[in-house]
Amino acid sequence: MIRPVRPEDAEEIAALYRANRQFLAPLEPVHPPAFFTADGQLLRLRRQLERDTRPFAILDDGAIAGTINLFGIVPEGLQSGVIGYWVDRARNRRGLATGAVAEVLAYAFGELELHRIEAATLVDNLPSQRVLEKNRFERIGVARSYLRINGAWRDFVLFQRVAGD
Ligand SMILES: CC(C)(COP(=O)(O)OP(=O)(O)OC[C@H]1O[C@@H](n2cnc3c(N)ncnc32)[C@H](O)[C@@H]1OP(=O)(O)O)[C@@H](O)C(=O)NCCC(=O)NCCS
Repeated sequence: MIRPVRPEDAEEIAALYRANRQFLAPLEPVHPPAFFTADGQLLRLRRQLERDTRPFAILDDGAIAGTINLFGIVPEGLQSGVIGYWVDRARNRRGLATGAVAEVLAYAFGELELHRIEAATLVDNLPSQRVLEKNRFERIGVARSYLRINGAWRDFVLFQRVAGD
């Protein structure tokens, strides 16, 4: 269901972001106009790889239906990472996000030998919280003023899943 994002995916991902611009606006930081272009996505991919972020495409019958990123990887000591994900609104409620999170967990705890994966959702983002609950994440608590969304610093609920749980 997931595979690493490739440079040749840039236009398909940009088009998906354009189609979901209004859907994602209340849930994500503000993106500059270039973000919604193939060139912008190509640049983003290069930067992600430089920073050791692992971006994956979520596939639906061969087409890209969303993305899931594993970022903030600390390989030693904490052995931890953070995930962020989204799925095309038109393909919601078909288990794509739940399945993609399960696959990234298997990769993180398996190949990368991480110990702990963290995720954060807006306090009222119940669909995303459900995705995490279904993947046996536990709720840590509310992180006040955690991320700037649509121009305002918003509170988020933090979740974690520990290897072996
Ligand atoms: C949250 C999101 C990733 C869910 O993706 P999805 O592929 O629809 O998720 P799933 O199909 O795996 O569904 C997971 C659960 O959420 C529920 N759900 C999904 N969309 C929902 C909605 N709009 N309202 C209520 N419940 C919803 C599903 O019913 C399912 O629960 P269930 O099995 O108990 O019925 C997707 O809606 C999205 O990308 N939202 C915008 C970006 C975002 O919020 N990203 C996460 C940031 S933390």
